[in-house]
Amino acid sequence: MSDQPVLYHEEEGVAFITLNRPKKLNALSPRVFELLDEYVTQFTNASDAKVAVLHGNGRSFAAGADIEHYVDIGSVQYLDFMQTGNRVQSKFSECAKPVIAAVHGYALGGGLELALSCDFIVAAPDAQLGLPEVKLGLLPGGGGTQRLPRLIGTMRAAQMLMVAQRISGTQAVQWGMALGIGDHPDALAAAVELANRIAAQAPLPVRLAKVLLRSGADASLDAALDLEQSLGAMVFGTEDAREGIRAFLEKRPAQFKGV
Ligand code: COA
Repeated sequence: MSDQPVLYHEEEGVAFITLNRPKKLNALSPRVFELLDEYVTQFTNASDAKVAVLHGNGRSFAAGADIEHYVDIGSVQYLDFMQTGNRVQSKFSECAKPVIAAVHGYALGGGLELALSCDFIVAAPDAQLGLPEVKLGLLPGGGGTQRLPRLIGTMRAAQMLMVAQRISGTQAVQWGMALGIGDHPDALAAAVELANRIAAQAPLPVRLAKVLLRSGADASLDAALDLEQSLGAMVFGTEDAREGIRAFLEKRPAQFKGV
């Protein structure tokens, strides 16, 4: 297997972005962010894949930013590193197509923040999710103080942020920040099944659902409902909508073409 710290391949309409530093529990180095940036851009702009799965090789998703990188840098370089990470995470959260993080083992610090920038987190029951930065005398710098409380509420997030409390995948599902793996053997298998189910839907409404979920969260309810109606009317006029309605009435599976 390649020793590149991030790998990319596509299989049956699904793009796989694989963190590949298993000996370091996939710690996020500058090179990892560089490759993540390249691959999320490839998935977004130059690929027919309809959905991506982000996962980690070895025994973890990612145990956070590469702490070794912090030894010799000052605040300015640290800020550069955080900004690079944030740029990559924004590409994941804003990319036109859905991304699923399949989390097993540890998803700590920047690893959890990276997962939080995806549309879905599918978590193994025994996964360990947390923001341990305070233990290092640091603050999370990749959205942990912002994306997490929006998902699970301020007090639970405060517990994870201020006492570095780790939670299990099971707890993450109960708190609404992850989906469980159901009957699947592991998080990756569950994420692939979810990806295949998404890929079978009409692509335009899937993409616009992502837009509505993201933009609606920061808009007034009235503005978000107006946008929903406008985009809904636009989708109603597509060939895929005709096909979906016809297929229902003819009692057959729809054949969507993305038009
Ligand atoms: N940065 C750099 N290296 C890391 C790392 C990180 N965030 N997390 C783990 N590693 C490395 C370890 O140094 C070790 O390397 P080595 O074998 O060369 O010594 C290897 O990954 C395996 O980790 P290890 O600590 O031996 O595994 P463990 O199962 O005993 O513990 C963790 C796992 C995740 C609890 C522990 O590694 C840990 O606390 N990591 C740091 C998590 C963190 O603080 N993240 C936020 C960073 S801002």
